[in-house]
Amino acid sequence: MSEGRVGSETRLSASSPRAFEPLWMAAVTWALLSIAVPASVNAQTDAAPSSPQVPYVPTPWVVVSAMLELGQVKNGDFLLDLGSGDGRVVIEAARTRGARGLGVELDADLVKLSNDEAKRLGVGSSARFLRQDLFETDFTQATVITMYLLPQVNMALRPRLASELRPGTRIVSHDFGLGDWRPDAQVKIPVPEKSYGPPHSTIFLWVVPAFVAGAWEGSLGDSAKAPSFQVELRQQFQQLSGTLRVGNRSAKLDQATLAADRVMFSAIIDSGRERFRHAFTGRSVGGELVGAWTVSDARTAESVAATYETRARRSEGRREGSGSN
Ligand SMILES: C[S@@+](CC[C@H](N)C(=O)[O-])C[C@H]1O[C@@H](n2cnc3c(N)ncnc32)[C@H](O)[C@@H]1O
Repeated sequence: MSEGRVGSETRLSASSPRAFEPLWMAAVTWALLSIAVPASVNAQTDAAPSSPQVPYVPTPWVVVSAMLELGQVKNGDFLLDLGSGDGRVVIEAARTRGARGLGVELDADLVKLSNDEAKRLGVGSSARFLRQDLFETDFTQATVITMYLLPQVNMALRPRLASELRPGTRIVSHDFGLGDWRPDAQVKIPVPEKSYGPPHSTIFLWVVPAFVAGAWEGSLGDSAKAPSFQVELRQQFQQLSGTLRVGNRSAKLDQATLAADRVMFSAIIDSGRERFRHAFTGRSVGGELVGAWTVSDARTAESVAATYETRARRSEGRREGSGSN
């Protein structure tokens, strides 16, 4: 890339092999690939592909900025761009937001272009690029993952994204979702100059949730007579539901949320004579749920009868494939 960031699009110099490959050809390939499911993608991870299964179509600059904004990329972040093309996402994150980053890309020419451009712009030590298959890449250091791939490739990556990333890691994808893993946020922005598809882009954000599915137990207070509780949590990515048992009464959770490692749930336990709302707010920390448990009169919905510092231990729980992390 000889001109760096120019206007709303980067132009490749004549010395770049990419200059000989019209963008519209890549766009047509892209459109066809996004309709047909390539068997090689479905059978991914075992064998490293020697050529990209996703064509090179750069994210327009306005979308790069919006992706970094939606992902709240900042100094201290480590951004990993899966299939980094000309390196623009990682370089822009380093240049404008002080983040460190790595781009992995199969095309050796694009990797060289990216490293040269990062150096030219003075961010060569914080924005690095490797010729590497994204399916062979270690995700665990990332605090932000960015991608502009294809729906089937996203789905092939999903089990690893859900299970290997640390809770709180942000995943930002340009134009393609992650199936029934609902995004935590999404924005649509007009992009009149877009080379492929309609003249707008959709950007999706997911915040990786902690794995909290399973049965948890603890007690409300330290005394020997303190009532015990059990909570059974079911998890579909960041969606939670479940059942609470306090003493010998149980109820379905009427609220349950999970954001990164932050857990909140509540239920009304009806003893016949009294109705109490039990509400927990805390975090998943090293195999425990740690936080505050309040008990209030469900009829008046105001007076807090008691507050407990609570630690619940997991009595059983199984990490299930792509359903949770
Ligand atoms: C649509 S482009 C996106 C480029 C860049 N991330 C952006 O947003 O501008 C997808 C890139 O992924 C690369 N790619 C495809 N399959 C790959 C794989 N298995 N490993 C690494 N890179 C791959 C392609 O060469 C291409 O440059």
